[in-house]
Amino acid sequence: MKTAILFLLARASFLATISRAQQPVSDDVAELAAKNTEFAASLYRKVASASDDNILLSPLSVSVGLAALSAGAGGATREQLLQGLGLAPLERNGQPERLPQLFQKLQEEVTRSEGLRLYQATALFLRQQAEVVTSFSELVKKFYGADVTKADFGNAQAAKNTINDYVNSKTGGRVAEAVSSLDPTIQLMLVSSVFAQGTWELPFNRSATQEERFYVNKYKVVQVPMMIRADKYYLAYDPSIKLGVLKLPYQGGVAMLVLLPDKDVDYTSIDEMLTAERFLGWVGKLKKTKLEVQLPRFSLEQSYGMRNILPDLGITDVFENTANLTLSSESGLKLSEVLHKVMIDVSERGTGTTSGLGGSSMPPRLTINRPFLFIIYHEATKSPLFMGRVIDPTKK
Ligand SMILES: *[C@@H]1O[C@H](CO)[C@@H](O)[C@H](O)[C@H]1NC(C)=O
Ligand SMILES: *[C@@H]1O[C@H](CO)[C@@H](O)[C@H](O)[C@H]1NC(C)=O
Repeated sequence: MKTAILFLLARASFLATISRAQQPVSDDVAELAAKNTEFAASLYRKVASASDDNILLSPLSVSVGLAALSAGAGGATREQLLQGLGLAPLERNGQPERLPQLFQKLQEEVTRSEGLRLYQATALFLRQQAEVVTSFSELVKKFYGADVTKADFGNAQAAKNTINDYVNSKTGGRVAEAVSSLDPTIQLMLVSSVFAQGTWELPFNRSATQEERFYVNKYKVVQVPMMIRADKYYLAYDPSIKLGVLKLPYQGGVAMLVLLPDKDVDYTSIDEMLTAERFLGWVGKLKKTKLEVQLPRFSLEQSYGMRNILPDLGITDVFENTANLTLSSESGLKLSEVLHKVMIDVSERGTGTTSGLGGSSMPPRLTINRPFLFIIYHEATKSPLFMGRVIDPTKK
């Protein structure tokens, strides 16, 4: 019953997001977006360097979750969190609500787009015995849309149910099992989970989709449903790293940038080169061109325990016994884990219909049939919402 109500509330709040005409982004929001982009690229590089699988991250939701947590941290712990997120330069003495307000504005901008529907869940789960400072839970709810909830970590099954029910209800039933096992010694856990489904500006024609080959590596070829569309697309090429860049627009100011390395280029070399500066450079170089695009239909579902990743980005203190967490009056509290669970569906769907190309001559074809990277970003703020890598589109 409780789950059903939460589910309805979560849906209502997302469906209420109406798209308004795009307004220019204020300088301070743009500055926050730029800092988040740098963090996003560092996080992606870190995760990619430790993985041989498909990757899917929502760096913005990681930033949101950790920034919310920073509001409940003090002293060196807080400073280090903000430093690690690249947000320290945005702080102003005597204005503790500045950063929360900027995040709120950025989130409003980003969720305004109807073309990419985001179902987000951000919450801190605290062990039963600890009391939460009310002003903290109010602040994170108001500005970050994050919840502070208790979980009975001493009873692993109960805690698991609490977390899974929460995430499931917030993501419209899409994320069924955010956690599969939990350590009973957990005191505080940050959960950030997102499900996204997009509606293309230039949808693919479902009846034209055919099974085709995708070259995972030299030895492995898989069959995938390959979507196809001929239209005017925005395209760029970065000769310095031999990378093709294609923009696939969603409706309402969000787009996917597909990064396709040349055939003789290993995607791991592109992983290492992925920086905020390059991303912005590619976006700036896109040129309209007639093209026939072939893209595999795919769905990704990934989860990460960031406890082992964040220390490499300079965030360590909050995980230590010496953590200064002012969000609870309980002393000796530390963050035990940051769970990041993300899902996305990429399919033909869209509400537009016919191709924008007339005439009989077929344009050049771009076939995305080997490992590629992608960045789904909000165009006005150039904020990466998702970053990922598809090595084998038949896997999650
Ligand atoms: C923890 O942070 C608070 C608020 O910034 C500060 O007043 C306190 O001295 C800090 N405690 C320690 C042990 O550093
Ligand atoms: C979709 O693809 C089918 C099969 O290739 C084709 O017959 C049909 O005309 C296409 N529809 C549009 C709207 O392009």
